[in-house]
Amino acid sequence: MTDVLITGGRIVTAVDDYVADILVRNGKIETIGRQLTAPSAQQHDASGLLIFPGGVDVHTHMEFSLGPSETCDTYETGTRSAAFGGTTTIIDFVLQRQGQSPKQALDDRLALAEPQVCVDYGFHLILTDASIDKLKELPDLINQDGISSFKMFMAYPGILMMDDAAIFRTMRTVGTHGGMVNLHAENGGVIEVLIEEALAQGNTSPKYHALTRPSIMEGEATHRAIRLAELAEIPVYMVHLSAKEALEAVVEARDRGISAFAETCPHYLFLTEEEYERPGFEAAKYVMTPPLRDHHCQQVLWRGLKFDDLQVVSTDHCPFCFNENPYGLHRSKQMGHDDFSKIPNGAPGVELRLPLLFDGGVRSGKISLNRFVQLTSTAPAKLFGLFPSKGTIAVGSDADLVLFDPEQQHVLSAASHHANVDYSLFEGRLVTGKVQKVFLRGNLVVDGENWLGQKGLGRYQKRSASGVF
Ligand code: URP
Ligand code: ZN
Ligand code: ZN
Repeated sequence: MTDVLITGGRIVTAVDDYVADILVRNGKIETIGRQLTAPSAQQHDASGLLIFPGGVDVHTHMEFSLGPSETCDTYETGTRSAAFGGTTTIIDFVLQRQGQSPKQALDDRLALAEPQVCVDYGFHLILTDASIDKLKELPDLINQDGISSFKMFMAYPGILMMDDAAIFRTMRTVGTHGGMVNLHAENGGVIEVLIEEALAQGNTSPKYHALTRPSIMEGEATHRAIRLAELAEIPVYMVHLSAKEALEAVVEARDRGISAFAETCPHYLFLTEEEYERPGFEAAKYVMTPPLRDHHCQQVLWRGLKFDDLQVVSTDHCPFCFNENPYGLHRSKQMGHDDFSKIPNGAPGVELRLPLLFDGGVRSGKISLNRFVQLTSTAPAKLFGLFPSKGTIAVGSDADLVLFDPEQQHVLSAASHHANVDYSLFEGRLVTGKVQKVFLRGNLVVDGENWLGQKGLGRYQKRSASGVF
């Protein structure tokens, strides 16, 4: 493999900010210094550019079945889109079905993903069956297969929801082996009653998705999840946190020294519930779970990011097309045209995390540049057992590098993104700051608008313990 020399860029990590050259050898960072020379190496002038460690997005759903629906991005299209957005590692999901062996579910998913993936990847395992015989497999999954995080749902009764006993039993099992439990925290039983009431009153439009998922029920479930983890003495991670009541529960626990962690997503930081007032069925584009919240929640989330009450920004990339064609009704929001409860939950965004957070977070003065790297790369890598090969720019780390132009303006649009989906949550939004070049283990995979990577280049990452931070 050819050496790579990147000169004159401004290297930004979670703690550093300086101008230097980077020499890459065999896919790893060999040397960082001034005035480096390597005549036989591939040369890249990064003057005027920022260099970030490759983004780590710990929440994506490629080729994911959610009830009767399936996301539009394959492992190939979704990870190529991720790379264009400066993300070089994703953690996606294996879904264990009722009665299925977790190990078998992982092996099936690996076989599907491996030939397709364009960036490095790992998996969380979603448990839907926590019977004793299934739980017995988890220690080996953690120690041998590198699956150190397990997602469970406190919502979607009858499909994915787990009761408190199952959650607690799982926590007991994985905690002693370096595992962490990730919770989708919403009170699924209460939400089901609210949905029944809304439909009985003839309220079928998309905005009732939001009205039937109140933020206090996210707060309630978050509090409950953390208390269960506290009793089980295990770290816990709250996914896609959106509500101020949920954040209050995390802050309260962290203040008491509990290992409670949480992520939020760009849509909660840049959009509000006002999107549900869009005319006709347009609002269905914004049907994700939890739903978009009010301006006050948004301010509270930004404060949480700044002061480390929230540790990670992930995308929860879960793309369903707006239109039925070309990928079919089961990959389309149109499934719920006459009944909001049938709209597939989820939205695209894997490509937009870095530009949005740089523009709306760093440039607007809400978070520092170092904090930006911490939130998008370093903290997720550390929390999910990928550090230090991922998440930083240091000698010996993987040469996953993003060359970023902090001044280039561009307009976000479905017409220019690389995801396999026909709309963007941020259509027409002008942002400043654009990914220029992306290296995956020293391979130049993105160069401006050109795709130089290839499917199958991504490597499965066996992760070490999660929740050690
Ligand atoms: O609406 C969402 N977030 N869909 C993806 C599944 C999940 O709950 O993460
Ligand atoms: Zn979820
Ligand atoms: Zn999700």
